[in-house]
Amino acid sequence: MEGVGKKKERAAASAAALVEDGMVVGLGTGSTAELVIRKIGERVREEGLKILAVATSVQSELLAAECGIPLTTLDAHFPLHICIDGADQVDGDLNLLKGGWGSHTREKVVAAAAKRLVICVDDSKLVEWLSKPVPLEVLPYARRVVFEAVRALGGTPTLRTHAKGAAPFFTEHGNLVVDADFGEIRDPKALSVKLSEIPGVVEHGIFTLAEKTEVHVGRDGRIEILKPKSRGAKVKKLQYTKR
Ligand code: A5P
Repeated sequence: MEGVGKKKERAAASAAALVEDGMVVGLGTGSTAELVIRKIGERVREEGLKILAVATSVQSELLAAECGIPLTTLDAHFPLHICIDGADQVDGDLNLLKGGWGSHTREKVVAAAAKRLVICVDDSKLVEWLSKPVPLEVLPYARRVVFEAVRALGGTPTLRTHAKGAAPFFTEHGNLVVDADFGEIRDPKALSVKLSEIPGVVEHGIFTLAEKTEVHVGRDGRIEILKPKSRGAKVKKLQYTKR
């Protein structure tokens, strides 16, 4: 049995291999995205791969620069050919839960700008239903309003802090993160719309972009690639483990 780290590496290598000369590439955030960035950086240095990249966080921007990947902006280059990122959970319809690192706003913007969204995960991230608390990026003065609105939707809000009882976590945009627990999310699209309607929520971590999403899953000794069968069609159902 391989460990999570090896599976993440395999998924990251599989996604990084999709990058070709001339592409403008969105670079995700998180521990798996970091492996992707390092792999792409290796290809830039060793193969002379010629690309431009748009980062989804300050930390990915710094890492890309360190790895020798030239950076650009969405103003200068739109659309992106591909965006490669990680995820916290992936459901059977390729809906995603993201924001474990609090970068989901910028990740969603960059994903929206990309024609193709490639998600790299180890197989523990596959679930039947999204069920982790949904990260909400929240304007600091709207915290109470957002807490009340989440409760009215049947959720349990928690302010994200650096550790129990420690200072609040602030995003790179100077906002708070509220993790909203709704248990199993049977209709991610409907919840996504409701969360977007809450005043003070800048962005939430549910991604419903299945039509352009493909998921590279690092399994024991192999890679599995999940894709929608065709644009707008139902995604193949798989064997899921509950998380
Ligand atoms: C960043 O805010 C997140 O969306 C990450 O992409 C997600 O948390 C996955 O991170 P890991 O690859 O570290 O599990």
